[in-house]
Amino acid sequence: MERKQAIETRLAQAGSRWDQHTGAVSMPIYQSATFAHPELGKSTGFDYSRTANPTRLAMEHALAAAEGGDQAYAFSSGLAAVDCALRLLNSGDHVIVTEDLYGGTFRLFEQAAKPFGIQPVFVDTSQIDAVQTAMQSTGARAIFVESPTNPLLKVADLSALAEICRKQDALLMVDNTFLTPYCQQPLNFGADLTIYSATKYLAGHNDVVAGAIVTARPELSERVGFFQNAVGAILGPMDSWLTLRGMKTLPLRMRQQQENALRVADWLCGHPRVTNVRYPGLKDAPGRALLERDGAGFGAMIAFEVTDAARVPHILKEVRVFLFAESLGGVESLITYPLVQTHADMDAELLARLGISDRLLRLSIGIEYVDDLIADLEAVL
Ligand SMILES: Cc1ncc(COP(=O)(O)O)c(C=O)c1O
Repeated sequence: MERKQAIETRLAQAGSRWDQHTGAVSMPIYQSATFAHPELGKSTGFDYSRTANPTRLAMEHALAAAEGGDQAYAFSSGLAAVDCALRLLNSGDHVIVTEDLYGGTFRLFEQAAKPFGIQPVFVDTSQIDAVQTAMQSTGARAIFVESPTNPLLKVADLSALAEICRKQDALLMVDNTFLTPYCQQPLNFGADLTIYSATKYLAGHNDVVAGAIVTARPELSERVGFFQNAVGAILGPMDSWLTLRGMKTLPLRMRQQQENALRVADWLCGHPRVTNVRYPGLKDAPGRALLERDGAGFGAMIAFEVTDAARVPHILKEVRVFLFAESLGGVESLITYPLVQTHADMDAELLARLGISDRLLRLSIGIEYVDDLIADLEAVL
């Protein structure tokens, strides 16, 4: 039996053996909308770039291989990927959704999917009993889970959620943006689809907006592939190439970002002007045991509260290493204010109930020298 290569090897060499004509080691960018046919009834395998494009296909193959999925499909953004996943449901279907998820995904469910009959039921998906009760009472056809959540970093038990789905013949869709296939492979725990904002860690350099779905089985691949082509929110060749290039260094970046994040989170825990530090890798973090059991890391996202909300404008203005920007997962460290940026579309009552307060800040830790990150926070706090 052929020896299975590690994710590092598969990603580093992704796309490198594609071009048999020239031997190009870097996957060529096929900036072509259409492809000429040799004759009637014959095709090179490529007809039109909405349906398939070689550069996009190389990126999709690399992601499917990294994740051990059946196929991967690349989209023009993470939200386009979420939108495609929801097309597997029918009007009138209920779907259990993580309650403190990315604000844009919340808006998509509430304002774009609901008018077409999808019924989201928002639940704390780190509480299995609550999910079970909601599944039984609504007869939901799917669970859409973010784990860890954005921004509160709650961790869900994916195996337990998969079991609940199996009993009810429902789909488990996991937004794995925060951990990536390097740290967590939800398909191994029974998920049907993983979904990515590839804008974040997969591409990794804050230079492209992209999304992806990885499917567990051929029948799901067929349906996702159909909607990718039929709806057409595909990733262009240049952006596919940028994402592919980013993915080659994903393991290296994730390792460094995690190491930095643990140091920053530990340091924040000891700061007198900081409370409620949330990082799943902290010794007493609620999700730590689950990630130790199921994953290969804790990611590099941190959330914390400052003791005085009045200090937030100063912090956001005066940081010199962190950049005050929304997004995450790139090599540059970012600081985000969820209340006014990523979660502005949630109503005040929900934000208050979830604990997304005017004192909450979110950090995406990059690959900089960690002492520079800590010094920057020390200066502004
Ligand atoms: C967890 C998560 N999922 C999905 C998205 C949406 O991705 P995109 O911005 O690429 O559309 C984001 C964006 O921040 C996110 O953080």
